[in-house]
Amino acid sequence: NGACRYKIASIPGDGIGIEVVEQTIKVLRAIEAVFNSFTLDIDTLDWSSKRYLEKGEYIPADGWQRLKASDAILFGAVGSPEVPDDVSLWNLILPLRKKLNQYINLRPIRILPGLSSPLKNCANGDLDWVIVRENSEGEYAGQGGTTHDDTPNTIANEVAVFTRVGIERTMRFAFEVARERPRRKLTMVTKSNAQRYGMVLWDKIFYEVAKEYPDVETDKMLVDAMAVRMVLKPNTLDTIVATNLHGDILSDLAAALAGSIGVASSSSLDPTRQNPSLFEPIHGSAPDIAGLGIANPVGTFWSAAEMLRWLGECAAADLLLRAIETVTANGAKTKDLGGMYNLAQVTEAVIVEVKRSF
Ligand code: NAI
Ligand code: MG
Repeated sequence: NGACRYKIASIPGDGIGIEVVEQTIKVLRAIEAVFNSFTLDIDTLDWSSKRYLEKGEYIPADGWQRLKASDAILFGAVGSPEVPDDVSLWNLILPLRKKLNQYINLRPIRILPGLSSPLKNCANGDLDWVIVRENSEGEYAGQGGTTHDDTPNTIANEVAVFTRVGIERTMRFAFEVARERPRRKLTMVTKSNAQRYGMVLWDKIFYEVAKEYPDVETDKMLVDAMAVRMVLKPNTLDTIVATNLHGDILSDLAAALAGSIGVASSSSLDPTRQNPSLFEPIHGSAPDIAGLGIANPVGTFWSAAEMLRWLGECAAADLLLRAIETVTANGAKTKDLGGMYNLAQVTEAVIVEVKRSF
């Protein structure tokens, strides 16, 4: 009907983030054209390390207002060899997640058709997971400090913060995700043997919330054992819930086990929908390959599909995901997947498939 208009803030960021977002917008335009039932107003924001080096800030003064007026954010990656990583992270992506109340990070991961796992005995259907990561507190709460800086007696502490509210809403979200999937199985990741306070509360609330979901099978893993299980018995897992730090690390491992970190997507969600949610590939700005036109855009395409789904355009999301799968199955793959295609060629293949399969 053409009546649905979505305002999308696009933040390409740095390095390959710029390249993959540019290609993703081409794919989104193709989707928009074939459906002809919704319009994407894309506002591209130059918030990057380049801007920081020139102007001393990533996010301009009117930035928050512009973001709040958007329905969703498409993000590339931030990080530059010229800016310390903690500065880029804490001045762009982390404030976005925190101020926009994006307390859930959702990372679906499976082996796409045509790709293979580096694991010897892992067929495509054997690894099909959704990782629900707490995204607002825990080990990345940002509390801590240093004293006696630049002396032999320097002290630094980094305080992990776990709140009942933060844990409960994460667990509830994870159970809802698990319930919607065929296996109805949720594995909780913890380290409550060594960390006696925050992690014990984490476990306790998991079992409390579990009572509300008797139809979901539950299971608990210490994070170190979980790393082993992901490698040795991937088919025993389905939905996974983990703290900010554990989820960060395990989801990179998950993406590598599924073929490449270049294919995986990450959604930072405000489930209350009072703020726009943010969709990005899980990889960083990859300065080692930036500008070469060989970055894998699939992780950002997948993120765009997740964005469309969050906006309620499920048919468009499904079409895009199927197009990605057809293209990988047909061998249109970048170098990180053992293929010969460059970024633009993969994009073109996906656009052709979008048009063909509509
Ligand atoms: P990275 O993900 O940028 O790169 C790791 C390795 O994977 C590199 O060898 C890279 O070439 C390769 N790779 C990554 N994405 C790829 C793709 N789409 N296609 C093909 N190959 C790909 O992680 P790294 O090197 O640890 O970090 C680089 C910068 O990115 C740092 O400044 C870091 O802080 C930042 N970063 C930003 C993130 C974000 O914006 N959310 C997330 C992770 C890192
Ligand atoms: Mg990470």
